[in-house]
Amino acid sequence: MQNTCFHIGHLSVKPPLVLAPMAGLTHSALRTIISGFGGCGLLSTEMLPARSLVAENPNVSPFLIRSEAEKPLSYQLLAGRPEDIEPAVKRLEELGAAAIDLNLGCGAPKVRRAGCGIALWEDRSRLVAVVRQIRRCTRLPFTAKIRLGPAPDEEKFMERVKLLEDLGLDALYIHARLDRESFSRPPRWEFAGMAKEWISIPVIINGGIFSLSDAKKCLSQSGADGLMIGRAAAVKPWIFSDIASSLFGFEADPEKKDLPGLYLEFYQLLVSRFPEERRLGRLKEFTHHFARNYPFGNRLAMAVQRAGSMEHARNLALEFFEKNVGTERI
Ligand SMILES: Cc1cc2nc3c(=O)[nH]c(=O)nc-3n(C[C@H](O)[C@H](O)[C@H](O)COP(=O)(O)O)c2cc1C
Repeated sequence: MQNTCFHIGHLSVKPPLVLAPMAGLTHSALRTIISGFGGCGLLSTEMLPARSLVAENPNVSPFLIRSEAEKPLSYQLLAGRPEDIEPAVKRLEELGAAAIDLNLGCGAPKVRRAGCGIALWEDRSRLVAVVRQIRRCTRLPFTAKIRLGPAPDEEKFMERVKLLEDLGLDALYIHARLDRESFSRPPRWEFAGMAKEWISIPVIINGGIFSLSDAKKCLSQSGADGLMIGRAAAVKPWIFSDIASSLFGFEADPEKKDLPGLYLEFYQLLVSRFPEERRLGRLKEFTHHFARNYPFGNRLAMAVQRAGSMEHARNLALEFFEKNVGTERI
């Protein structure tokens, strides 16, 4: 029987479902929509570089803007040097972070070159120094998000996972893919779940969960304490509520989903909360995923991609919705 919550230090995550950090996607607008449906036990920011974080103005920074409804909210740090940690962690505490997550899984060339993400995961001594420093600076619940490593090497994976627990982490998010595996490849839920045998902090599995049936399969193959969901949250922001009501007894509103209404709500949140020059890129990124709700969704994504302004994008989207009434995949 699956537990209906897990604990990250003093934070109870209930239901045991976490929004994955996603650059350009897990900002205030999407988090607000997800919170409206409910069922997500812990929201996330996107990765926030420790060095620039301290200079960001939380009232206008698209990375830090948030509303009261977006809670509990975990902030993800991208860091590679112990000396950058103290001011960044202090900042996150001031911002009201419910938890701090360290990015150890991003393999983007720019991130690797900066010695962060996977590059930090691979450099044992620097990894120890950075993780120790975060643990020393804060009593907030502290997690890390990792991949499985460069190759399916059980020994090495076990060594690193145990190391993180020994250094004082409160929970571990595991994206069930090797370092260079693409997001389209089937996830290795069973391999990731081996971590459950080696450590006693909660293990939350991520990767390739797009439906209730994926959620069930992932839990049974991995034995995880909880699930972390990324892209599907931008396709179906109600996915947490669906999974939580079916698997964890969460009371969800069974109302039919109004996709155009949801899209316009997202649009309006961008307009009301984000500086003008920060809106259109975020609308395009969201549309790329949301369009998957329609069989001809690529037409919606391509139309919005070409738009030169928010108004233009909205009109093109409305045109698409009108032409495609009744074709939704929900
Ligand atoms: C657009 C995009 C941005 C991402 N940004 C981040 C990030 O900032 N930090 C991070 O740890 N992972 C990031 N990821 C990886 C996701 O958190 C997640 O591990 C990945 O999408 C697999 O989960 P999914 O199959 O549920 O989407 C990003 C993924 C996408 C698609």
